[in-house]
Parts: sequence; structure tokens; C-alpha cells
Amino acid sequence: MLFQTLLIEEKEDFLILTVNRPEKLNALSNLVLREMKEFLLSLQQDKYLKVRGLILTGAGEKSFIAGADIQAMSAMLPAEARALSSIAQEVTQLIESLPIPVIAAVNGYALGGGCEIAISCDYIYGTRGAVFGQPEVNLGLIPGFGGCVRLARLIGISRAKELIFTGRNLNAVEAERVGLVLKVFDSKDEMLVAALESLKLIRQKSGSAVALAKKTVQEAIGRDTKDALQIENANYEKVFQTENSRIGIQAFLQKRKPQFVNC
Ligand code: COA
Repeated sequence: MLFQTLLIEEKEDFLILTVNRPEKLNALSNLVLREMKEFLLSLQQDKYLKVRGLILTGAGEKSFIAGADIQAMSAMLPAEARALSSIAQEVTQLIESLPIPVIAAVNGYALGGGCEIAISCDYIYGTRGAVFGQPEVNLGLIPGFGGCVRLARLIGISRAKELIFTGRNLNAVEAERVGLVLKVFDSKDEMLVAALESLKLIRQKSGSAVALAKKTVQEAIGRDTKDALQIENANYEKVFQTENSRIGIQAFLQKRKPQFVNC
């Protein structure tokens, strides 16, 4: 698949998706969002789970994604803004609903929409120079790509409100302290190697179990305990319907390594 604003690189069973507009610090134009949606939809249709993990990053050293394209916003009518928010929210939901792990590898600025894309990934690795923030208030705006919802869930309501109301940035150390970033690395290369290692570790497990675990966590978020436990309960039954559950349990009992199948 060829895109104007995205680079897709294959690494063994994994893909690295790079947003490639370095001259604009990888800002999310409408085209970037449309191409991301097309790419993620194609991954959703990967029925045979050929791709077993995805890393999302930005071209260059300076920026992951510096937010929505502000230039394009200058002539935007409210209804067009809503359409922009809709497609960006769709992208974030596609990331969350992929049955494979998705790691955001944040090099430099993850501002506005960049931070919102990152927090829709399963977890975030960052470089020492990573900068996170929701600076929309500086433009008289609010986060509209999922930030008001997901940031509060991830780092807590008051921390999220403080960041969104002040529009201030977090450096990598602070982002790690509040649990926004899971691990911090000295360089982008080191971060990408570690992200691939993490995907390789997960690759050794049952793909069907990982997919169901991701679905369960995603579906349970934000629900009350009773409803959330019912979702877990139903998916626990589903996981016992997978061939990999028999393979894994038998292998343990026979004291050997499981040979999971792609299902
Ligand atoms: N949308 C469109 N273009 C953007 C952009 C964005 N969100 N962020 C950066 N750019 C462009 C700049 O306009 C500039 O383009 P130009 O060279 O054609 O003028 C180029 O990227 C480089 O950015 P610049 O501002 O010169 O780099 P810097 O190192 O001085 O500052 C930032 C970096 C990230 C602090 C600054 O670009 C910035 O504040 N960007 C906007 C962040 C933001 O508010 N995001 C949320 C949007 S809702």
C-alpha cells in the first residue's frame, strides 16, 4: 500500500507506521487522517493475523505528531470541525479495536491530536525529548480527537483537567511519573528496538488470547464494575473456545513450550 503522508515498514511479523510530514512536524492534515483510516481498516481485514503488532511513530527526530493541522483549521466551519473530529476519533477507535498490540513510539512533540493518537495506542514509549500536551486552549479550542475522554481515564481527572485547562506541556520525566509514558529511552533508535522487542515477546503468546485480553480491557473501560465483570466473564468463556487455550494448557501439563496457532 502506498500513501502520500505515511510510511509503512515491515519488520518480521510487525509493521511500523510513520506519519511522514516532517516539514510540518507531522501535523495531522485531513489527508493524513484519511490515509491512517484506510491503513487501519486494511489491518482490521487481516483475517489471518499476518501482522502481529504495530508501532506508530513520526518522521524525524523532532516530532511524533504536533497536533491537528492548524493551517487547515483557519478556514474551517463548525460543521467541518465536527467532521474532522469524527474522522480523527474513528482513527483512534480503529487503533483500539485492532486485535493486535499497538505501541506509540513518541519521538519529540506529541501535542494535541498527537497526544490523542498516542493515548489511543495500547501503551506509549518515549524518547528523553518527548513532549506531551493538549495545547488546544491556546488556540481557543478543546481537544476533539478523544483527549477529554481518554486522558482523564489514563492519568486521572484532575491531572487531565489541569493539563487541558492550562495547555502546558509535560516533559518525558513528568509524563513517565503520571503514567502517560511507560518507558523512556535515550534515542529514537533505542526506543524502536525496545518497542519491537516488546512486540516479539507478545508474539510468543497466544494471539487469540492477546486479542481477547485487549478487547476485554477496552470494553470494560468506563463501565461500572458489575457490567465490566460481565464482559470479562463472557470473554473468559470465549477464550476457552479457542484452540490456543487447549494448546497452552496441554503444553503446561506436559512440561513443554506451547506451539500456539494463529487463530
Ligand atoms: N499544524 C500545522 N503546522 C504545524 C503544526 C500544526 N499543528 N505544528 C507545527 N507546524 C509547522 C509550522 O507552522 C512550521 O511550518 P513552516 O516552516 O511552514 O512555518 C513547521 O511546522 C515547523 O514548526 P515551528 O513552529 O517552526 O517549530 P518550532 O520548533 O519553533 O516549534 C512547536 C515547535 C511544536 C512548539 C510549534 O510548532 C507548535 O506550537 N505547534 C502547534 C502545536 C499545537 O498547538 N498543536 C495542537 C493543535 S490543535
